[in-house]
Amino acid sequence: MPPPWNTQNASLVVVGDVHRWWRPADVAFLERARPDLTLFVGDLGDEDVEMVELIADLAVPKAVILGNHDAWQSFGRKTCTPKLRASLERLGEDHIAYAVREVPAAGVSVIGARPFSWGGQSLRSPEIYDEIYGIHTMRQSAAAIVDAARNAQHRDLVILAHNGPTGLGDRTHDIFGKDFGKPGGDWGDRDLALALQRIEGMGLNVRAVIAGHMHHRLGHPRGSERTRFVRRDGVLFLNSARVPRIEPDQAGSDVSYFLRTTWRAGECLGVEEVWVDLHGDELSAASPEIVELDAGAPVIDEMEE
Ligand SMILES: [Fe+2]
Ligand SMILES: [Fe+2]
Repeated sequence: MPPPWNTQNASLVVVGDVHRWWRPADVAFLERARPDLTLFVGDLGDEDVEMVELIADLAVPKAVILGNHDAWQSFGRKTCTPKLRASLERLGEDHIAYAVREVPAAGVSVIGARPFSWGGQSLRSPEIYDEIYGIHTMRQSAAAIVDAARNAQHRDLVILAHNGPTGLGDRTHDIFGKDFGKPGGDWGDRDLALALQRIEGMGLNVRAVIAGHMHHRLGHPRGSERTRFVRRDGVLFLNSARVPRIEPDQAGSDVSYFLRTTWRAGECLGVEEVWVDLHGDELSAASPEIVELDAGAPVIDEMEE
């Protein structure tokens, strides 16, 4: 059922992994549609300051969580490069890692989770998190996400992350299932799963977790697509990583992909996949199927690293 459109509704538009697929039409679409907040899940480029600047300069309210590709060389060198420093400086408060962005029009607070996530069991280069955030374990990272939620002004929360949490499936085609290397296994973030459990234990409502990182087209089995929209215990999990996010349509002209979520008073009224043409005009919008998952097992707080 389409959401009841009226002026009281607010919209949060999501831009999945960019990987440099970004064009003036995308800017025109956002500046014209003026969503209440535009959310970027990261992987803008490969530590690409110019790409970060294009997003930082957008004249719309926005919140960003940088991805593993945005810190690619820093993770290799185990220290924050000048380019990563410049990216963070350029984004300023729009990079909401471990922080809150209030969206009163939607009745929600947006909480930023851990940036630069590669997924999987480890932080990969804890040195980077230590250097920037004073965090060097998964457990500390979970605590920092929970602290941000504690500072939120609304009881209804949206979590913005680069990768999703563990606990949503371990098959290659699951929303954050591992489809590369030795395929199979849950490639979600453990800190995020633990933080979600603790936040809900505080009586707050996580309405949606918005992430990317695990691209829609699978490496194994090659050519198939993953499930990207699920709901569990009333929480929506959206994987926005359609990569590349610009591709030719049936008529051969390039169209850009966005996700649009519609909100009123802390409740998500609808999710749509939106395609935009080269003039920045909306070509189509359709609600994707959302797969209902069984209630999850509790996350065991055994993280010692
Ligand atoms: Fe990506
Ligand atoms: Fe990524």
